[in-house]
Amino acid sequence: MSIKIIGTGAYVPEKVVTNDDLAKLVDTSDEWIMQRVGVSQRRVSVDETASDFAVKASLAAIKNAGIKPEELDLIIAASVSAENICPTVAGTVQKEIGATCPAFDINSACSGFLFALDTAVSFMARGTYENILVIGAERLSKIVDWTDRSTCVIFGDGAGAAVITKGEGYLGSKLFTQGDDSVIKIPSFGGTSPFYTAEKPAPYIFMDGQETFKFAVNKIVNDIKELVSKCGYTLDDIDHVVTHQANIRIIDYASKRLKLSKDKFFVNIEKYGNTSSASVPIALAELDASGKIKRGDLLVMSAFGGGLSSAACLIRW
Ligand code: UT7
Repeated sequence: MSIKIIGTGAYVPEKVVTNDDLAKLVDTSDEWIMQRVGVSQRRVSVDETASDFAVKASLAAIKNAGIKPEELDLIIAASVSAENICPTVAGTVQKEIGATCPAFDINSACSGFLFALDTAVSFMARGTYENILVIGAERLSKIVDWTDRSTCVIFGDGAGAAVITKGEGYLGSKLFTQGDDSVIKIPSFGGTSPFYTAEKPAPYIFMDGQETFKFAVNKIVNDIKELVSKCGYTLDDIDHVVTHQANIRIIDYASKRLKLSKDKFFVNIEKYGNTSSASVPIALAELDASGKIKRGDLLVMSAFGGGLSSAACLIRW
């Protein structure tokens, strides 16, 4: 039993923070951020949570799919920046949209949406599920250290969602984890136990940018190559590439090293920055809404990041 994607949706908060706005907070410039990362602005929450974003993206995806919330059999959400550990983002979405199905969250950082999608495909293989909602939602502005110029200029807030149903579109996937806390780490709240004596690191994103960059380029290129070949296709067969929007230079490298035209890569990093697990589903929803992807097209999606982790999947749209 495979799946097809029948609806996509995205939501980003209204507040736009430009590079010039950030240059007033830390020692940076529009020129540096555009050249080194490719981000011109990002959306930042003023009063909404990751779950609020997820609800709006989910309603858009369900509407796009032409189904009702009661027709969902499962909701899976990925997030590293949810307001609450419990209730989960998926559980909050279930309540707010009026669904009654089971719902749970997973965490695989920036690869989270593709891990969630692959998990949904496995549930679909039971043969008893009709429709599953998969979400990536982040309020990274909550866990960014706004005095650290090496991270605060990169990240943004938002959510994306997709509805999957029975079909024959999911051709294969590749998941990877390399447990490591030296390259990317997001400590959670350390607590106030008077009995705990070990160090309690600040609950902000730590990222060794250069090491992450090397990991990202290596994974995006090799994951796509290996997956496409494993599924019996060549890179020439690919019509669209949706990758994690982490750095425009990573996408440029991937395009060159895979010898795949840059036109095939969907790019929106300039508008939103890096939205972690929301990045791939927001890009997918925008590609879908653009009308450029047609039924029957071959789409490869790839994500990488904290964990360390990476994920890719090949889809016949
Ligand atoms: O979502 C998870 C996956 N994440 C990624 O894939 C991120 C991958 N990494 C990157 O995108 C890049 O490594 C960064 C954008 C994070 C950093 O770019 P970089 O070209 O690797 O910069 P760098 O860390 O090597 O720093 C180069 C210089 C340093 O100055 P010196 O030591 O050469 O004088 C930094 O202090 O740039 C400086 N710098 C900045 N300058 C102006 C670092 N951040 C900034 C800044 N504005 N915001």
